[in-house]
Amino acid sequence: LFPDRLVVAVDGTSGSGKSSTCRGVATRLGLRYLDTGAMFRAMTWWMLEHGVDVHDPAAVAARCAEPVLESGTDPAAPTITVDGVDVAAAIRTDAVTGSVSPVSTVPEVRARLLRLQREIIGADVQPVGIVVEGRDIGSVVVPDAPVKLYLTADAAARASRRAAEQGAADVAATEQLLLSRDAIDSGRATAPLVMADGAVHVDTTGYTLDEVIELVVGMVDRVGT
Ligand code: DC
Repeated sequence: LFPDRLVVAVDGTSGSGKSSTCRGVATRLGLRYLDTGAMFRAMTWWMLEHGVDVHDPAAVAARCAEPVLESGTDPAAPTITVDGVDVAAAIRTDAVTGSVSPVSTVPEVRARLLRLQREIIGADVQPVGIVVEGRDIGSVVVPDAPVKLYLTADAAARASRRAAEQGAADVAATEQLLLSRDAIDSGRATAPLVMADGAVHVDTTGYTLDEVIELVVGMVDRVGT
C-alpha cells in the first residue's frame, strides 16, 4: 500500500505496553507515530458529547461522518483534536474507555477511520516512516507493512501496569475491565484483534520497556531504514 515508506504495524491487547513501546521506537528511529486507538476514543468521546446511544449501532453509524478528527504524529507530543477541541485528556476517562469497544464494532466507524488512517500514513511529502499502533493495523490497515508486531502480556501484568498508570487501587477490577475489552475487541465481526499474517509475537511480560524498545528497534533495523 505504501511502497515508498517504512510502516511499522503494531497490534495487541490493551495494556500490553503498545503505546510506550511505539512512541519509544518512533523517537529512537526518527519516525512518525499514529495511535489509532486514540481515534476510536475520540469518535467515542464525540458520540457521548452529542448524546448518541453508543449501544445503538444504527445511531452511531448515522452520525459517524460528522466529527472532524485530527491526529498529530510527533512521537514526542502526539495530539488529537475533535472539531478543533483538544481531547487528549478527555479520551482517557472511564466514560470513554467503557464505551469505546461498542463504538469500535460499528462497520461504518471502522470504514471512516480506516480512510483517515491511510490518509495520515500517506500524508508526509518527504516520506519518513511511521509506527502505527492499534488492533487491526497489520491485518487490515496496512497488510503489507514490512514490520508487523503483535504485543501481549499476562493479564495480571497488564492490569498492574494500567492500575499504576491510572492511580487505581483495585487491580482485580482493572484486570476484569481489560479482559472484557479484549473479549469484545477479539470477538467482533469487523476487523477483530487477531495476530496478522507475518506478525512477530512479543510477550512483554517480564521485560522492561527499554528491553522491548531495543528488541523492536533491532527488528526494524534488520529490514533496513
Ligand atoms: O489502544 P486503546 O486501548 O486506546 O484502544 C481503545 C479501543 O479502540 C480498543 O478497545 C479497541 C479499539 N480499537 C480498534 O478497534 N481498532 C484499532 N485499530 C485501535 C483501537
